[in-house]
Amino acid sequence: PGTSVAEILDRLCATVPDYPKPGIVFKDLTPAFADPQGLRAIVDAIVAPFAGQFDLVAGIEARGFLLAAAAAYATGTGVLTVRKAGKLPRETFLEEYALEYGTAALEVHTTDIAPGARVLVLDDVLATGGTVGAAVRLVDRCGGDVVGVGVVLELEGLGGREALSGHRVHSLQRLG
Ligand code: PRP
Repeated sequence: PGTSVAEILDRLCATVPDYPKPGIVFKDLTPAFADPQGLRAIVDAIVAPFAGQFDLVAGIEARGFLLAAAAAYATGTGVLTVRKAGKLPRETFLEEYALEYGTAALEVHTTDIAPGARVLVLDDVLATGGTVGAAVRLVDRCGGDVVGVGVVLELEGLGGREALSGHRVHSLQRLG
């Protein structure tokens, strides 16, 4: 087999019908993360368009943490820890986002971004864009400058890219 990121994702992304509920086809990236060539290919490809343009990588709990930590290590930058509400111990900003039923919220510590830091926001999947949108607003409130958004999978037709209009969105694979 080849080792391009597209080939790796085709081969290793698992498709799970009716998860988490009937009618949903879940794309599971854990086999790609567990593969030595897969993890490196994904991380290298996700940061490549933004090389030299960021000082900090925002990772969104939970799967975004994996990408952000590896990307920050690979590029000599740092990780901004974007957590689900109620997990961080110091003063935070909080941004809510819509779920299918109800809302959820993400938080960051108010002081974890140096003023003017250039921030790359990473997550595994872009669907409606609610999650990444909340992370972008948190970076803005902290005084950071969002230089782009990187995701492994973009689920087209759910409005994510449109919800993030004005930002550069780089996805490794688009699924319709
Ligand atoms: C999934 C995924 C993204 C988000 C994308 O996370 O990891 O963060 O959904 O959907 P959106 O673009 O419609 O916001 P989930 O909410 O399942 O949380 P988890 O990572 O903790 O499982």
